[in-house]
Amino acid sequence: MSAQELIASLDALGTELDVELQPLVDEQSIRAAQARYLGKTGKVSAVMKELGRLPPAERPLVGAAVNRVKQGIEDQVTRKLAELTDAAARLDLARVVDVTLPGRPVAGGHLHLLTQVRLEAIAIFAELGFVVAEGPQIETDWHTFEALAIPKDHPARDMQDTFYISSRNDEILLRTHTSPVQIRTMLTTTPPIRIIAPGIVYRRDDDATHSPMFTQIEGLVVDEGISFADLKGVLLHFVKRFFQRDLAIRLRPSYFPFVEPGAEIDMQCSFCVDLPSGKGCRLCKGTRWIEIGGSGMVDPEVFGHVKIDAEKYTGFAFGMGLERMAMLRHGVTDIKFYYEGDIRFLEQF
Ligand code: DAH
Repeated sequence: MSAQELIASLDALGTELDVELQPLVDEQSIRAAQARYLGKTGKVSAVMKELGRLPPAERPLVGAAVNRVKQGIEDQVTRKLAELTDAAARLDLARVVDVTLPGRPVAGGHLHLLTQVRLEAIAIFAELGFVVAEGPQIETDWHTFEALAIPKDHPARDMQDTFYISSRNDEILLRTHTSPVQIRTMLTTTPPIRIIAPGIVYRRDDDATHSPMFTQIEGLVVDEGISFADLKGVLLHFVKRFFQRDLAIRLRPSYFPFVEPGAEIDMQCSFCVDLPSGKGCRLCKGTRWIEIGGSGMVDPEVFGHVKIDAEKYTGFAFGMGLERMAMLRHGVTDIKFYYEGDIRFLEQF
């Protein structure tokens, strides 16, 4: 064969391989085809054997053609393999992203039961003209106790076992009740005052119905001519609205240093009010009444601390436990359930 003929047959190999590669769809058979051309006994090698028979002057020309064709075959194989991976990736994508499938439902959260109850209570009082007031959870001894007529040696301090912030200085503490918000409000607002103060409070207390951290809702009204009847009216309205039924309340004389007279607020037990037996239930311990908070008329001594004229103004205040309210409405049996974050409890509400 002449040099020309050799070069022509080399060039033909490229086209031949093209035809062979066309129907192949897996890497193994593509590599096999590659070997049939470039392998030791392959078609290109066969042409190279002819090289020796050419006159030396013509060999470089054919040698260059061999290299060109070898490179061309490498490129063809690489292209074909790339096509294969592309096709596989496209197939894969088509499988993963089926845009015609309906979307996966997103698990929606909802407000925590205590938040729901707090917002509801705020809404009920807002209808009566109350606005929300806030105070710090880290409080001074003065706002929490002194100004509320509970001096250091007062026995009432034992009712609220306090967490102090520093052992050296017992002036700064975690508020044990929301009542200091009364003081902060009266210090900065001239009557008429009508506030509701929901918030977290802390006490050294821990059992099925007590937690070291819990939520209270405080109320305070100060104006001219405010009476005990106003207090009872507001509380009765709240209980009826909150429990959505016609429950009675009872104001039982009690003692809180910052109110005079003071009363504990009882409501009819919502769990056994419909039972005819008159025996009550486990929740109200058979009494048919349940205590939900404390209340009373603002003591003139407190007005003195916040410079409100006790001759001109009177007021009432109350404080209730929100966990207790939610417990009564939903039959929650342990106060810890609120804080454990167990989804099986939370998703019931
Ligand atoms: N602060 C009291 C407590 O935590 C509850 C209370 C009683 C609040 C009487 C009041 C009130 O506003 O008038 O035990």
